[in-house]
Amino acid sequence: MAVQDTDLTGKTVVVTGASSGIGAAAAAQLAARGASVAVVGRSPERTAEVAAQVSAEPFVADFARFDDVRELAARLLARYSRIDVLANNAGGTWPERTVTDDGNELTFQVNHLSPFLLTNLLLERLLQSHARVVNTASMTYRTAKLNLDTINAPTGSFKQLGEYGATKLANILFTRELARRTEGTGLTTAAFHPGVVATRVYDTAPFGLRWFIRSPLSRPIFIRPDKGAEPLVYLATTENDAAINGRYFHRLELEPPRNKLAVDPDLAQRLWTLSEQVTGIGSVG
Ligand SMILES: NC(=O)c1ccc[n+]([C@@H]2O[C@H](COP(=O)([O-])OP(=O)(O)OC[C@H]3O[C@@H](n4cnc5c(N)ncnc54)[C@H](OP(=O)(O)O)[C@@H]3O)[C@@H](O)[C@H]2O)c1
Repeated sequence: MAVQDTDLTGKTVVVTGASSGIGAAAAAQLAARGASVAVVGRSPERTAEVAAQVSAEPFVADFARFDDVRELAARLLARYSRIDVLANNAGGTWPERTVTDDGNELTFQVNHLSPFLLTNLLLERLLQSHARVVNTASMTYRTAKLNLDTINAPTGSFKQLGEYGATKLANILFTRELARRTEGTGLTTAAFHPGVVATRVYDTAPFGLRWFIRSPLSRPIFIRPDKGAEPLVYLATTENDAAINGRYFHRLELEPPRNKLAVDPDLAQRLWTLSEQVTGIGSVG
């Protein structure tokens, strides 16, 4: 698959996690194709800086706070009469179990619950726009487990990579279930692994690894954000809706499921129900 130079003039694209790394690079590439881009970030300074660089509009929201997500959705709906692409790309990994003010495990809230809430708050506009919803997952889903009884618990054992992988598996299950619930509406959704990309997501890694990633020595292993953004741009712009809907891509290639949990319809539905309960939103289907 190749990324096309599709003209996006007149299209509105919302990219979360656009204040840094893959999202910032994707925002630049989509703006360069003529799209009107909403740059969504957590850090006001970084968000303003990226938005100015790519002539886009800045929106600040902390996904660790549902109130911020609700306010973000309201501002986007007030500003844009159509939303052609929503890229749920914000995410991260944290070394310890942390409970947010909303009472959720931080990694689960930022990486899954808040994108779930944002998508559902924007859903009517997305459906009207026959939009594309692109979700940044990760190849860590391959070895992940997702126990819905413990993933969002305030206490219990915690492994950073295990929690991260579980939330990225949740991104893939969300994509499948959203596709199922919106079948025949014209909305298309897909998830992807961007590659192993040298970004701030590794800021909580041990010092040696952080040093290595920032050095040119890392180039054979860690691709740069411009390249990491390619699958997001491809899935946001390809015209072949049927080939991508509900599916997961490893970079630009469709990946046959490497974890049976990622294609478990019952788990996908139970995750959706839990997410509705926790975020307090009624949704499609
Ligand atoms: N880099 C990789 O190798 C890799 C591999 C697989 C998947 N991914 C995924 O790619 C996505 C982008 O990450 P990246 O690698 O580009 O890392 P990054 O440079 O650290 O970017 C992460 C983005 O997410 C935002 N974010 C983090 N916590 C947030 C919060 N609480 N509320 C709102 N926004 C928040 C950050 O905002 P601020 O900068 O404003 O704080 C930033 O814009 C993530 O979903 C990550 O899991 C990355």
